[in-house]
Amino acid sequence: MTGRKPRIGILTSGGDCPGLNAVIRAAVKTAERLGYGCIGFLRGFEGLVDPVSYMPLDSRATAGILTQGGTILGSSNKGRFSATTGEDQRVPLDPWLLEQVAQTVRQLSICGLICVGGDGSLTIAQQLHEFGIPVIGVPKTIDNDLAATAFTFGFDSAVASATDALDRLHTTAASHERVMVLEVMGRHTGWIALHAGIAGGGDVILMPEIDWTYENVCRKVLLREEEGKHFTLIVVAEGARLPAGGTVHTPAAGECQQVRLGGIGLVVAEEVSRRLKRDVRTVVLGHLQRGGSPTTFDRVLATQFGAHAVRLVHDGQFGQMVSYHPPQIDNVAISEAVRSLSRVDVGSSAVQAARALGISFGDAAELLSPFAHGERSPAAHSPPVA
Ligand code: F6P
Repeated sequence: MTGRKPRIGILTSGGDCPGLNAVIRAAVKTAERLGYGCIGFLRGFEGLVDPVSYMPLDSRATAGILTQGGTILGSSNKGRFSATTGEDQRVPLDPWLLEQVAQTVRQLSICGLICVGGDGSLTIAQQLHEFGIPVIGVPKTIDNDLAATAFTFGFDSAVASATDALDRLHTTAASHERVMVLEVMGRHTGWIALHAGIAGGGDVILMPEIDWTYENVCRKVLLREEEGKHFTLIVVAEGARLPAGGTVHTPAAGECQQVRLGGIGLVVAEEVSRRLKRDVRTVVLGHLQRGGSPTTFDRVLATQFGAHAVRLVHDGQFGQMVSYHPPQIDNVAISEAVRSLSRVDVGSSAVQAARALGISFGDAAELLSPFAHGERSPAAHSPPVA
C-alpha cells in the first residue's frame, strides 16, 4: 500500500436515469471534505476488470453536472456482469470476475466502492459484498421497483416526462375526438403508468399488477362517449400482461440476457380500434422518459443518497444500500433490497383515489361504486331510517 489517501470508487450501472450525475457530484464533494480521494469506474462494473478503466473524480471534474441527465461515467446493462436474466432469476457471477474486481480494488487502494444501480446491478453488488469487497449500494431506476426504499431517484423525472406527454396528448386527443394510447416504461411494475396516469388525467391505466380485459377498456371508452367525452387517454406500462397472457417483447439476443419489452401500446390500440371501429393512435415514450435533466425532487433525493453513501463508507457499514424512508434517508442491507421487487399495491391510496375518480384499470372494478374498495359508502354514514 502506498502513502496516498484512501480512495472511494464510484460506478453507475444498468439503464441510465436522471440524477446519476447528482449522486456522483454529492459523493465526491462529501468525500473530499472527509479527506478521501475519488475515482469513477467507466461503463459500470466493466470498468473494474480487464481492461480496468476509470477517471479521477474531484470537485472540478464534477462541477456543473448536478443538472445533467445520463452519467459522466457511462453505464452498461449487459456483458460480463449480469446477475439477473429476468424477474427474480438470479445468476451467480463468474468467480474469475469476482477475483479480478477484488484485485482492482486492492491495487487502487479503494476503501469503499459505491455502486449506483437498480435491481440487477445491486444483485451484482451483493455478490461482490459476499466476496469481501467493501460495497455500498445506491438505488436507481426510473421503474421505482426496488424494495426497501420508498422511491428510487429517476422515477420522479420519468413520471414528469410521461405526464408532460399526456398533457400534450390530451389537447390533440380532445381536438380530434380520438382514443390515444401512451406506452410508458415499467418492466415489471406499473409505478410510472400509475403516477403519470393520475397526474396527466389518464382515463385507463394498464399495468402488470392488475389483470385487464379489452371488454373493460372498450367499455370505459363507450362510457365516456355517453358522458359527452369523445376522447380517451389510455396509459399502458410496457410490462403489462396481455389478456391472453404474456408480454409484448423481442426475445433476448446476443450479449443482452433480458427480453426487450415494447410494443404493447400498438397492440392495445389495434384491438381497441378493431372492436370500436374508430381511430386509435399510439405514442411509445421509450427512452425520452429516461433522458434529460432530473426534476427538483430527484436532485434533492440523489444528492442525499450520494452524501449518505459516503457516510456509510466512512463508518465502514459495507453491504448496505442507502434508502429513503420519508422524511429520512437511512440504509438497509443490499440483500434485503434485492430479495424481491417493489410492486404497486393494488389496495394503495393512489389506486383507490384513481378508482374513486373513475379511472379504469381495465378490470371489472370500475363498474362498482367508487367506495367499493375499502372505504365506507356514504350510506354507511347515514343515520338509520326510523
Ligand atoms: O429498468 C429500466 C428500464 O428503463 C425498463 O423500464 C426498460 O424495460 C429497460 O430499462 C430498457 O432497457 P434498455 O435501454 O437496455 O433497452
